[in-house]
Amino acid sequence: WLQNADTFLQRSIGTNVAAQAEATRTDETDEKDGCKSLYAVQAERQEQAERSVLISCHSRTNDKKFLKYMSRHGNINKYFFYESYGVYAVVEFTNRESVASLLEAVAIPSISHESVVPFKSRLLSLRNLGSAETPNQLSGKLCQPQTTIPISELIQRLSREETIDQQITSLTESYQLTEENSRLRFLVCSLLKDIAAAYFPECTIKPFGSSVNGFGKLGCDLDMFLDLDGIRGWNVKMPKSGLSLEYQMKRANSERAVTQSILSVVGECVDQFGPGCVGVQKILNARCPLVRFAHQPSGFQCDLTANNRVAMKSTELLYLYGELDPRVRYLVFTVRCWARAHGITSSIPGAWITNFSLTVMVLFFLQRRSSPVIPTLDHLRDLAGPTDKSVIEGNDCTFVSDFSKIQVQSNKETLEQLLCEFFEFYATFPFSRMSINIRKGKEQNKPEMAPLHIQNPFETSLNVSKNVNVTQLERFVALCQESSWLLQQSDTNTPRGGSGGDTVTTWGLATLLLPSQVAGIKGRKRKRREPASERIKSLLESLKNKS
Ligand code: CTP
Ligand code: MG
Repeated sequence: WLQNADTFLQRSIGTNVAAQAEATRTDETDEKDGCKSLYAVQAERQEQAERSVLISCHSRTNDKKFLKYMSRHGNINKYFFYESYGVYAVVEFTNRESVASLLEAVAIPSISHESVVPFKSRLLSLRNLGSAETPNQLSGKLCQPQTTIPISELIQRLSREETIDQQITSLTESYQLTEENSRLRFLVCSLLKDIAAAYFPECTIKPFGSSVNGFGKLGCDLDMFLDLDGIRGWNVKMPKSGLSLEYQMKRANSERAVTQSILSVVGECVDQFGPGCVGVQKILNARCPLVRFAHQPSGFQCDLTANNRVAMKSTELLYLYGELDPRVRYLVFTVRCWARAHGITSSIPGAWITNFSLTVMVLFFLQRRSSPVIPTLDHLRDLAGPTDKSVIEGNDCTFVSDFSKIQVQSNKETLEQLLCEFFEFYATFPFSRMSINIRKGKEQNKPEMAPLHIQNPFETSLNVSKNVNVTQLERFVALCQESSWLLQQSDTNTPRGGSGGDTVTTWGLATLLLPSQVAGIKGRKRKRREPASERIKSLLESLKNKS
C-alpha cells in the first residue's frame, strides 16, 4: 500500500503544476463546447468543497509525509499549497467520509488561557509532523500563487508580446482567477456554511459577483449569499394540512427586517466562533444589508449577504455574456485593469466608478457595434423558455439559460480594434443627456440628473453608478481620450523590439497602463484648488450610499 501511495504521491507532486494547467485547459474546452451553465459549475464546485479541508502547515512541512498522513483517511482527489500569513494546504478527498474520519482523529487543543468552542470546523492546523531537510520547502515552487503579479511586472510582460491582441489575452491570463483560487473561494463558502448551519441546518452559502461571473481577478473580494431557499418546503405553496408552523418569523414585519435579523445572528456567530474570521462588521442598514469580514487563512475580504437573489441573477447574466464570445472577457479584464492602474476604480468605497459599472459599460459598447458582438438583454428575454421565467420582488429577471438558442454574431473585429473603439466611444459619449442601457442595447434619455447613469439591468429604476461624481466621470472621459489617441500613434502601437535583454521598451497596451499625462495634471490642479471639499463630498456620497 505504501508503495502505491508513494507512486501516487511522486506522480502528483512531480506533475502537479503541469497536470493542473492541463486540467484547467480541459475544463475550459468542455465549457466552451457545452457551455456549462453557472448553476452546473456552482453545483460541481460546491460538492468538491464539501469534501475538502483547509490546513495550516509549517513552512518546513515535508509535503510527502503530509500527504501520506492525510491519505490514511481516504483517497485524495486533489490538493495544493499556498501562502497567506503562513503556508496552507487545501486537500480534497474523493469521499466525504474521509473528512469525517479526519475530524474524528483531530486533537482539540487544551491551552490554559483559552477555552474551547464545541465546534469542529474543517480549518485545521498541522503539528508535529516530520520537517523537510531543506528549510522553507513549501514556500517555494510548490505554492500556488493567489495574488496577481505587480503592475510593473505586468507592463514588462506585455511589452514582450508581439501584437496588441496578444497583450490583451496575456493580461487576462495573468489576472484571471486560477483553478485553485476558485476552489479556495468555494471552500471558504463551505466553511462558513458550517457556521451558519448552526442556525439554519439546510442553508447553503453561494459565491456571486466576480468570484464566479468570469470577470474576477486574483485578489478580488468574495461576495457571498446565504441561500435559505433550498430549505424543504420554504417558499413552496403546500396543500392545506392540519398542522402549520406556530410562527414563520418572530418579531419581523418586513422581508428586509428578516434579512437583517438573519444576518445579525449569523454575523454574531462568525464573529464569536468563526475560525480565521477577523474584523467582522455588520452593515445592516445598507440598501443591501451585509456582514463584512476578512477570512485570514485564505486572505479573502468577504461580504456576506442574504436574500440577494437579484444580484445572483446579474452574476448569471454577466457569466452568460462572458461565455458567448471570448472577446467579452478579454475586453472587460483589460478595461478593469486599465481603470485600476489610473485610479478610476478603487478598493475604498466612494465616488469612483465600480468594476461592475465598468463591466456594464463594456457590454453596452459591444452591443452598440454596427454588427453587435453580443445581443441585448431584451433579446435574451425573448429567447427564454417557460422554465427560465423568473420574477424577483416584482422585477422581471427572465432570460434564456440555454446557450444554444443564442445565435453567434457575425462581428469579426480584432481585440485591438475593439479596445481602440471602446476608448473612442466613451471619449465622445453624451453622458450629460443619455443613460447606458444594456436591456435595450441603446442609450436612453436620462431619467434623473446623476453625472453617470447606468440602468441596473434587473432593478430598472436603479442607477448602478449613482455614487459617481462629475470629477470622476471627467477623469474617465479624459483618460479615454488619451488612451484612444495613444493607440493611434505609430510609436505606441508598434512593438519596439529589443526584447532580448532584461529591459524591454514599453509599447501598445503596456503604454496605456503607465501613469497618465492628462488625468494626472488635471487631478493635481483640482486637488490644489479644493482638496478638503472633494474628499468630504466623496465621504458624504459613500455614507449616503451606505444608508
Ligand atoms: N451588484 C448589483 N448592483 C450594484 C452593485 C453590485 O447588482 N450596484 C451585483 C453584481 O452582480 C455584482 C455583485 O453584486 O457582480 C458584486 O458586487 P461588487 O463586489 O461590487 O462587484 P464585482 O462584480 O464582484 O467586482 P469586484 O471584482 O470589484 O468585486
Ligand atoms: Mg465583488
